Amino acid sequence: MKKFYITTPIYYVNDVPHIGHAYTTVAADVAARYNRLRGADVFFLTGTDEHGQKVEAAAKQRGISPKEHTDDMHLAFKKLWAELNISNDDFIRTTDQRHIYVVRKILQKLYDKGDIYKDSYQGWYCQSDERFWTEKDIVNKKCPDCGKEVESIEESNYFFKMGEHQEWLIKYIKDNPRFILPESRRNEVLGFLNQPLGDLCISRPKERLPWGITIPFDEDYVTYVWFDALINYITAPGYTVDDERFNKYWPADHHLVGKDILTTHSVYWSTMLHAMGLPLPQNIFAHGWWTVEGEKMSKSKGNFVSPHGIIDEYGVDAVRYFLMREVPFGLDGDYSAKAIVGRINSDLANNLGNLLSRTVKMTEKYFEGIVPQAGEENESDKALRARIESVVANVDSMMPDLAFSKILSEIWLGIDEANRYIDSNTPWTLAKTEEGRVRLNSVIYNTLEALRIVAYLVIPFMPESGEEILKQVGSAKVLGEDSLKWGGLKSGSSAAFGRHLFSRIT
Ligand code: MSP
Repeated sequence: MKKFYITTPIYYVNDVPHIGHAYTTVAADVAARYNRLRGADVFFLTGTDEHGQKVEAAAKQRGISPKEHTDDMHLAFKKLWAELNISNDDFIRTTDQRHIYVVRKILQKLYDKGDIYKDSYQGWYCQSDERFWTEKDIVNKKCPDCGKEVESIEESNYFFKMGEHQEWLIKYIKDNPRFILPESRRNEVLGFLNQPLGDLCISRPKERLPWGITIPFDEDYVTYVWFDALINYITAPGYTVDDERFNKYWPADHHLVGKDILTTHSVYWSTMLHAMGLPLPQNIFAHGWWTVEGEKMSKSKGNFVSPHGIIDEYGVDAVRYFLMREVPFGLDGDYSAKAIVGRINSDLANNLGNLLSRTVKMTEKYFEGIVPQAGEENESDKALRARIESVVANVDSMMPDLAFSKILSEIWLGIDEANRYIDSNTPWTLAKTEEGRVRLNSVIYNTLEALRIVAYLVIPFMPESGEEILKQVGSAKVLGEDSLKWGGLKSGSSAAFGRHLFSRIT
């Protein structure tokens, strides 16, 4: 059986989740659900990043310990994932004992191998990004990344010999064109690797930052938050604890990340894995960022979009659909109420919702809800079937590229074709004559069958609506290859109109 392992970043618990977090998690969920549908053994991992300065500062501000803060805050993510119908198989917290065990084991192994050394260091530290910059990186004492003030810090620390993997990594990226996607991001990483790659400072003295995993060979230090966090991807499938399970799922098929954390994944993580003697993930996919009505989202600007708010207002499936349809995965996107309402009215209520309600209502009216048996195919029946079959094939070939928006447009080509099929075959006229009623059997069956296949393709994106379509057209849900083959709907089963899938918003 084919396996499929997909991850989201693990989210910092310094604040509540926003649509940016929801975005990556929904995308991973769509790919996981699609692969399950096609019969793969799926492992879908998400979780929370709970150590480090940001989280410690957030706890301090609330006047509670980091442990109390993370125990409380990680629940906000779990709650949102339940609300968004996220089907993750595991939820890892970096404060889990299983994770602390693996991080310490890896540190010890790399230290024993001579891949980690101690050195004293002067650098410019950015609190917000939790990283050091060198003199030449900073601009007017400001972080080149986030623009916030940096401070000069001198201390002894442990370093991972990242630099020695540079040539190997460049070659690896060049030899494996699908390793970093989209291509523009891959070129960015190669550009970054044109500069000499230094070693990575992977410790923080406890006296400055106590909230982290203690380094096994030096009690006075904790592990740098990124070194700790990246390891989550191998802790969860069982690295060093359950070899069989680990070897089944690793390497991951996709790490989904936002464009801001591509370097940490493609450079830090790749060199760490290489030093550990482990294969790299098949693919790291960097998606774009969401703005809100053209502006960067921030609490201080007052334009923070709460996922709970929009789920309450528009429904979970409409939100999932909008996030996946509005912007090609990889590019930046903009959220606005106008844009989501537009999508709901045209794509969901009109095209899909109408196709379902009119087809099922006609089945009730002309056949008392019993799915009829199709007769011999004519040209228009063949054209509908051919379109649906090509949609199925195209969706399957686009999924490995995570081209969610294109996939949805493709599915909607099938929906449009089915709507046109009804309009050109005019079942309401066929119903009037005896001869017409013979043809009506085929027209209704074929439209219901197109809807059944559309339902399966829609389920990964909108699980509740997809399942509702299946129910209304009178089909049980089955997983595996056959579900997408034309002809699966059984004549004689019962179709019944339940509810409108989506209502128009005025
Ligand atoms: N904890 C690290 C990730 C460690 S993974 C081993 C982290 N956490 S985060 O909570 O700050 O960000 C998580 C993800 O949210 C990142 O992929 C980031 O790109 C994404 N987003 C944050 N704001 C976003 C938008 N406005 N739009 C889309 N995604 C955004 O980084």
